[in-house]
Amino acid sequence: MRRKVGYLSTNNNFFLRRRSVLAKKMQNHPIKEDDLQTIINAGIRVPDHGALNPWKIRVIKDDKLKILDEDVILTEFKRENPDASDESLEIESKRLQRASVVLAVISSPVEHPKIPNWEMVLSSGAVCMNLLSCAQSLGYAAQWLTEWYAYNAKMLEYLGGRPGVDRISGFIYIGYKVEEPHERRRPDPIKVVSYI
Ligand SMILES: Cc1cc2nc3c(=O)[nH]c(=O)nc-3n(C[C@H](O)[C@H](O)[C@H](O)COP(=O)(O)O)c2cc1C
Repeated sequence: MRRKVGYLSTNNNFFLRRRSVLAKKMQNHPIKEDDLQTIINAGIRVPDHGALNPWKIRVIKDDKLKILDEDVILTEFKRENPDASDESLEIESKRLQRASVVLAVISSPVEHPKIPNWEMVLSSGAVCMNLLSCAQSLGYAAQWLTEWYAYNAKMLEYLGGRPGVDRISGFIYIGYKVEEPHERRRPDPIKVVSYI
């Protein structure tokens, strides 16, 4: 008899039900420091060819959320959109403050004679997905976002990224659920999977 191993053996499986919660629907009171450390420690356990750690995580929490919102996001938005409406300025002034904590993941590839840059970039995507799943597995609301400011040079600089080399893979927003999210359209395996 084949033994069922691990969590995928039940209908109630976390990975079969995992769902992001939109940042705009999160509550943003602080999360427990222990939980944050668990999310980070588990989140960085990702496949990483050559153990190069070609990524960095910047934790944005407490007053830093407001500081980055105002000093970087809003300032850059105004510079790029001088005629912006009051309504859009209001949205941009509170982007990060939608969450309790935001984990910025920076892809930071290194020179290597054998391991391609592509694999280092992929590993950084794995960090994003792992952080997201870890936060969700603890019951938090979480979402992986880039929005426009992931591609902004000042944001990259503020987070300590190297211009022209490092890139922001995403911002993992973590907060509290107000309600359970609705399911979204999921891929039909028949359309995306085939057997060789
Ligand atoms: C790299 C990346 C960037 C994303 N950026 C955004 C974004 O800027 N805005 C947005 O609405 N969704 C964005 N998403 C999509 C959401 O994270 C996600 O697909 C959606 O919330 C459903 O996620 P779930 O499968 O975890 O439920 C992005 C996804 C990825 C992988």
